[in-house]
Amino acid sequence: MAKHALVTGGAGLIGSHVTDLLVREGWKVRVLDNLEPNTHKRGKPDWINESAEFIEGDLRDRDTITAALDKVDIVFHEAAYGGYMPEVAKFVHVNSLGTAQMLEAIRENNLPIKKIIVASSQAVYSEGAGECPEHGLVFPSVRPIEQMRKGDWEVHCPICGAITKSVPTPESAPVSGETVYGLTKVDQERLVLLWGKQIGIPTVALRYSCTYGPRQSIFNPYTGVIAIFCTRLLNNLSPILYEDGEQTRDFSFVEDIARANLLAAETDKLDGFPVNAGSGRGTSIREIAQHISDVLKIDIAPEVNGEFRPGEMRHLTSDTTRIRAAGYEPRVDLAIGIGRYLDWIRTQRDVRDYFTEAAAILRDKGIVHKVQKTER
Ligand SMILES: NC(=O)c1ccc[n+]([C@@H]2O[C@H](COP(=O)([O-])OP(=O)(O)OC[C@H]3O[C@@H](n4cnc5c(N)ncnc54)[C@H](O)[C@@H]3O)[C@@H](O)[C@H]2O)c1
Ligand SMILES: [Zn+2]
Repeated sequence: MAKHALVTGGAGLIGSHVTDLLVREGWKVRVLDNLEPNTHKRGKPDWINESAEFIEGDLRDRDTITAALDKVDIVFHEAAYGGYMPEVAKFVHVNSLGTAQMLEAIRENNLPIKKIIVASSQAVYSEGAGECPEHGLVFPSVRPIEQMRKGDWEVHCPICGAITKSVPTPESAPVSGETVYGLTKVDQERLVLLWGKQIGIPTVALRYSCTYGPRQSIFNPYTGVIAIFCTRLLNNLSPILYEDGEQTRDFSFVEDIARANLLAAETDKLDGFPVNAGSGRGTSIREIAQHISDVLKIDIAPEVNGEFRPGEMRHLTSDTTRIRAAGYEPRVDLAIGIGRYLDWIRTQRDVRDYFTEAAAILRDKGIVHKVQKTER
């Protein structure tokens, strides 16, 4: 018999690709999405799979989520408020409280849910793992703001202070959440994993790396560096690099992340665990900007103006040993994936820059800071 899935946030980047994959695999899929205006400025997107049942509604509404969970076997919980938004309470409300209420609705109604897969994030780590010349593998804390103000972007060994080299971060690395968003991703994953154990429902928290691809919002200036750089360049504006642009991230093409979700649903090898879902490769933000401008043939150099975001990690590459052991293999490499994103963005009408205004708000609200001394 077909399995029934609920995909919360199924109008968004990852949720919509999870939906498509499940439909292709013969699942019956219900999508719950409130079409958050920051992400969906032009209303309901045309990519919501026609074979899926669509409920426009807010996860935080108790009756809505209870109805959405009816006859569902597996929940893919993708809905969240994300990125470097200036709000505080809304993150907690949507991500932490929304998740908690969903769990309560399941328990209070004794719903026969067989598994919950929650979208966690690499943002739960304090900083990527490092290798110290003397102390080997270390897990540095977030870089102090005083250090960043001086323009020292390096990650130092917590024991001797030497500069560390970035190495893949395993799931056992300390988890804290150094941004409001990160903190609520920690809440979400811990709530789901702990609660699942108590109640006896298998759960998996997928810690996605930076995920990109067609359908990534071209309106949301607070999230998705690839989308932001593309919209800037297409408007003949330079990509803005925070710090010195040499920070590195692990990028995943969205279809690979959808496959990670299907795998997590089908195997029991990941049950009860937080699981890195990434490529295992680090790429600098500067390289991303360069690559996009090369492919678009828009030769505008990135701008570095000494700005930084306190709480931001310097390097994060996922150690993907756990998910690979369960059978995951990313298939779409970065150059091909960016090419596919650019093909898609060219089909979108009226691609505007929303970043300039957002960046000013972030500066004003103290989310983006500037170095006080550039010489080192
Ligand atoms: N894209 C990434 O790089 C990345 C990385 C790590 C983790 N994640 C996580 O993956 C999940 C999906 O991210 P995405 O990139 O697809 O983001 P997205 O913004 O494209 O999709 C999220 C969807 O959730 C919906 N939503 C938001 N609040 C809601 C609410 N209260 N009720 C119902 N629906 C609501 C939005 O309308 C949107 O369609 C999120 O939980 C995010 O935190 C994303
Ligand atoms: Zn050391």
